[in-house]
Amino acid sequence: MVELQRTLVLVKPDAMQRGLAGEIISRLERRGLRIVGMKLIAVPRALAEEHYAEHKGKGFYSGLVEYICSSPILAAVFEGPSAVKAVRQTVGKTNPVEAMPGTIRADLGLMTGRNLIHASDEEPGSAPREVALWFKPEELAGWSRELDRWYFEED
Ligand code: RTP
Ligand code: MG
Repeated sequence: MVELQRTLVLVKPDAMQRGLAGEIISRLERRGLRIVGMKLIAVPRALAEEHYAEHKGKGFYSGLVEYICSSPILAAVFEGPSAVKAVRQTVGKTNPVEAMPGTIRADLGLMTGRNLIHASDEEPGSAPREVALWFKPEELAGWSRELDRWYFEED
């Protein structure tokens, strides 16, 4: 069986306000990643603070927490081989004008503080911790798709 990872994605308030949730989810879905959890959530401040705890004390921290709480967001968990790396690659660098063309942030955004999407980083433990922070186990569905073998090569 090919090894699968799970990673957290948040469609941030600017993307929600701009009606880009479908476009963003679609890019990840078309790549072959499997959606195993998704919900619309008005983010409680405490959850935003915990999610971005690593940035506490930095100048942009309070603005970042305000931003993420400023409208409901879509939280999702994607699953697939190397899912953490693949999603970060499709998302692009933090600053949209430094991200590669073809990435979500480069194609749809201009500024770091309006960069449309969050994706778990590649630090070991980040993705499982974030998935557990945003989703209860029963909100995630393990499933397989008829076409999985055309995306995931068995070893
Ligand atoms: P994210 O966690 O949202 O997926 O973004 P990231 O890994 O690419 O970047 P990270 O360093 O974790 O920063 C988290 C979010 O904080 C905002 N930020 N603002 N003004 C600034 O210098 C600054 N730096 C970061 C961005 O919204 C970034 O996505
Ligand atoms: Mg980050």
